[in-house]
Amino acid sequence: MQGPRIISVEANSASFFSRNEFLIRRLHSLTGLVPVGAYMCIHLITNASTLGGAPMFQKNVDLIHSLGPALPIVEWSFIFLPLIFHAVVGVAIIRSGNPNLSSYHYVGNVRYVLQRATAWIALAFIAWHVFHMHGWFHNEWWLENVANEDLGGHRFDPKHAASTAALALEAPIRKLAYFIGVVSCVFHFANGLWTMGITWGVWTTAAAQKRANWICGAVGIVMTVVGLSALVGVAKTDVVAAQAYEDTKLQMKQEEEQRVAAENKRLSSLTAEERLAERKAREANH
Ligand code: HEM
Repeated sequence: MQGPRIISVEANSASFFSRNEFLIRRLHSLTGLVPVGAYMCIHLITNASTLGGAPMFQKNVDLIHSLGPALPIVEWSFIFLPLIFHAVVGVAIIRSGNPNLSSYHYVGNVRYVLQRATAWIALAFIAWHVFHMHGWFHNEWWLENVANEDLGGHRFDPKHAASTAALALEAPIRKLAYFIGVVSCVFHFANGLWTMGITWGVWTTAAAQKRANWICGAVGIVMTVVGLSALVGVAKTDVVAAQAYEDTKLQMKQEEEQRVAAENKRLSSLTAEERLAERKAREANH
């Protein structure tokens, strides 16, 4: 009788994390790849399209914003919540220590420390970056009093994509912050791909782990080039010309919307016979 009672008391007193460590660690690992890692790659590729000029970047941003009111739901379900989960568990893993450094060779040790250092940089960078571009929340009071120009929040306007991105990154100190942030996130992701292979037992032999070094290294180099090319893209953007293009495009879109609304209003005021006669006349003209 004594034995089971002692075990259950110990089990209850163990932290939630240690009781569910296996599952939590696997979910942490999985969220690092999808959706967080996959989203990071798509986001960096989209930003690199600033290199193609204001029209190309605006087209890509419009495609994302065509989700309309569903966009915040998609953002929270597939980006922010999984990222918050990954970050909270990541901080718990770092704080729980268990460094195990002596069982790694020298390079492995350095990578282990860099994985944790870049996790802290990614945490600080992403928190600031989302505030800087997006403002975190789109509530009116918040945008006026917190995410305002004085505090440097909410600088990106999706309707003026290239010009506002270029202005937001105009100051050299901001470019430097983005450089450090992007390189750290990409290192954390690429090195994380390698550690994921260990977590999930994909590369178990020394030879397979060596091959994986090449694959993850290549992913890291390609994504670093892609990520940093956005910085070149915004630096090359002519803000005045980009703004003129964006304003013209916006005006054309508004005129088209007004034309469609007026036409719909006119059609709804016609009788069924008038509408039929109009359709027949149109077909005859074709
Ligand atoms: C751009 C954002 C991020 C991406 C793409 C990302 C991706 C990854 C990936 C793929 C792994 C490998 C998982 C494994 O070893 O099984 C990983 C590990 C890790 N991540 Fe992240 N992560 C990001 C942000 C963060 C943040 C903000 C933190 C917390 C401060 C964090 C903390 C950690 C930690 C501590 C590990 C190592 C886990 C271990 O060695 O057991 N990550 N991450």
